[in-house]
Amino acid sequence: MLEQIRELQAQALAELAAASTPEALEAWRVAYLGRKGALSNLLRGLGNLPTAERPAAGQAANETKAALEAALAARQEALQSQALAQALEAERVDVTLPGKPPALGQVHVITQTIREILDCFVGMGFQVVEGPEVEWDKYNFTMLNIPPDHPARDIWDTFYIAGWEGQMLLRTHTSPMQARVMERTQPPVRVVVPGFCYRHEATDATHESQFYQIEGLAVDEGITLADLKGVLDVFARALFGAERQTRFRCDYFPFVEPGVEMAIDCFLCKGQGCRVCKHTGWIEIMGAGMVHPNVLAGVGYDPTVYSGFAFGLGPERVAMLKYGIDDIRYFYANDLRFLRQFR
Ligand code: PHE
Repeated sequence: MLEQIRELQAQALAELAAASTPEALEAWRVAYLGRKGALSNLLRGLGNLPTAERPAAGQAANETKAALEAALAARQEALQSQALAQALEAERVDVTLPGKPPALGQVHVITQTIREILDCFVGMGFQVVEGPEVEWDKYNFTMLNIPPDHPARDIWDTFYIAGWEGQMLLRTHTSPMQARVMERTQPPVRVVVPGFCYRHEATDATHESQFYQIEGLAVDEGITLADLKGVLDVFARALFGAERQTRFRCDYFPFVEPGVEMAIDCFLCKGQGCRVCKHTGWIEIMGAGMVHPNVLAGVGYDPTVYSGFAFGLGPERVAMLKYGIDDIRYFYANDLRFLRQFR
């Protein structure tokens, strides 16, 4: 009997060591320690032993029972801590790894340039207003002293809206806002107008069919060309350096008289002549002039009382000059390698 008990214990412990799931442990428990298990069977056989052998056998059986119970508890604990260790390892987080920075957007270089330009004029008392990109022919041309069939319309290659040819178009410049602003306000007027413009053009390094302009308009009693020059001098020095010289030469735009083209002395070669200024020492940066009396009269202003100046400039051109960019198409090609340079 003692021999049987010892064998049972050895076999049970060997099987326990091989059991590695909660289900296997439970099956093992039922098989050895359960009410109908192997140990209970043995104990039931005690009654058949000679009386003298019973105490020793009983004691051995109880010791085995205690040993198996203890072994089961130890095995359960071992398996639990093994499972915990595995879970911890699998879910391990290395808190010393560098984090993933959130991808922040940025302001487009042309938007940055527009803000810088607007800031400059706002500092001189101009107000920022915006207007429609889809515009009536009336504002884009007629009210700007460019009547239908006037050859001056040829300066602007225009996209018309299908079904509205000759009436509704994509504005070719921000100048229509001159008429729109004056129509709804009385002098004094001081506005700057940023916005997209469109022209039917073959694109190249200096031409896009969609581009920005910033229009400026000041109208009041007694405004002269000297005011225009003073304001644009301040602008040129704010954007291109305090030592900038400006040059104004006659140019033609139907809605101004006199009309001028403004240039700054080349900030790269200081007027010596280089690639940027095409070896002239001067860089043309905008069109401007005194608002034509016909335009003033057209919005109901008395041209004998009021006068004003207007200007129109291209922020893309300003940015190209400021940052030494030789092709306007880079701005709208959406290549982040290019755009991220201007953070
Ligand atoms: N609108 C003109 C252009 O697009 C620029 C301009 C604006 C000229 C205001 C004079 C006055 O070419």
